[in-house]
Amino acid sequence: MTGTGGAGAAMTQALCGAGRVLCRLEEIEDGEGKGFTLGQGLEARDIFVVREGGRVFGYVNACPHRGTPLDWQNDRFISDATGLIMCATHGALFEIEDGACVAGPCAGQCLEPVALSVDGAGRVLRVEG
Ligand code: FES
Repeated sequence: MTGTGGAGAAMTQALCGAGRVLCRLEEIEDGEGKGFTLGQGLEARDIFVVREGGRVFGYVNACPHRGTPLDWQNDRFISDATGLIMCATHGALFEIEDGACVAGPCAGQCLEPVALSVDGAGRVLRVEG
């Protein structure tokens, strides 16, 4: 979702078939998000994952408006009022399924997507590009 640059848990570095295991699906509450940090040092990158049922959507944890992390507390990315991803800095709102900003100062822009999958064992994987 997105680690310590916003907030969240450290990523499990296990390689597993088609990608890196981030967590188990049930570790993300349905309708909520979870942050991870990929890589280390200068190559570290904060991302977050939002779960909708059995589906997951991943984005870089940086608002297109100013580049700040979106979460306002650890693993808090979703507005209770709208059910959309919300930026903590100026309140921009983003669709969960495609990261499109639908309200706020960056309306019309998009979050940077991160390719994910859920395997048959219920593990959320970062798909390596
Ligand atoms: S930094 Fe996200 S809306 Fe301004």
